[in-house]
Amino acid sequence: MGLSTDEIMRVSLDLVGWDDVPADSTVYVSGDDIETALVGIDLESPEIRLAHDLGYDLALAHHPTGMGARLDFPEVLDTQVEFMTAHGVPEDAAEEAVADLRSRMDHGGHSSNYRHDPSVAELLDQPYLNTHLAPDEYGRRVFREVADDLAGDATAGEFVDALATIPELEAAETDVRLRVGDRDNDLGDVAVHHAAGTNGGASVARAYFEHGVDTVLYIHVGAGDTAELREEFADAGKSLVVTGHIASDAVGMNAVVDALEERGVECDTISGCGIGRDD
Ligand SMILES: [Fe+2]
Ligand SMILES: [Fe+2]
Repeated sequence: MGLSTDEIMRVSLDLVGWDDVPADSTVYVSGDDIETALVGIDLESPEIRLAHDLGYDLALAHHPTGMGARLDFPEVLDTQVEFMTAHGVPEDAAEEAVADLRSRMDHGGHSSNYRHDPSVAELLDQPYLNTHLAPDEYGRRVFREVADDLAGDATAGEFVDALATIPELEAAETDVRLRVGDRDNDLGDVAVHHAAGTNGGASVARAYFEHGVDTVLYIHVGAGDTAELREEFADAGKSLVVTGHIASDAVGMNAVVDALEERGVECDTISGCGIGRDD
């Protein structure tokens, strides 16, 4: 007897001990007795069709593609504010740092075709869900542990090297990059800014740097944000470490796959999921 889509969502939440399904995660087409799953970072219409044609009981994605998971996505950005205030950024400064991102995500969701991919799964009656924040939180804890295990006088370069030994990051074809700062910068106080919907761009990193954080970790960042931050903080001993998007998402999604296989759901991985995972 396989699992239901709700039980599979629950497996991903249990990884981090959460009760509630976050706003960026949803079951688009529900199903029961799931014994096989095609799992990927991005599963959209073509991959849903592929899952259906190949006979998988479930298409399981990381990134949200529609419905509430896109429309209500700005709700998970509250986490950005929580992470910043936990590092001493005053609440009003944290809110201001994330205001533009909140507006962009709200406009993006509102203008998106939130029906597109889910409607394909409905037409095929292909069970389909995405789980986003919980696996990212799992990955955040892995990165946090790496930071906490380093000595008090560690450098930014030593942090980069330690992160690169995480199996997913080691196996990936992307490197861990130091986008702002030098390898011999003091690591100092580290903010692991992952599992907050998306990266916080220049404004969130700036808020951290201006309130005593020395090193910020993002899993991805845009070129414009890097350029802004370099201009302002390159000579200030501040560092921005970027671990690599898909490898970093794989850290949490591989843990979901391991947990599902333990429950008897046979998983095949595509689209970046499975990087660095031994099976
Ligand atoms: Fe992610
Ligand atoms: Fe992602």
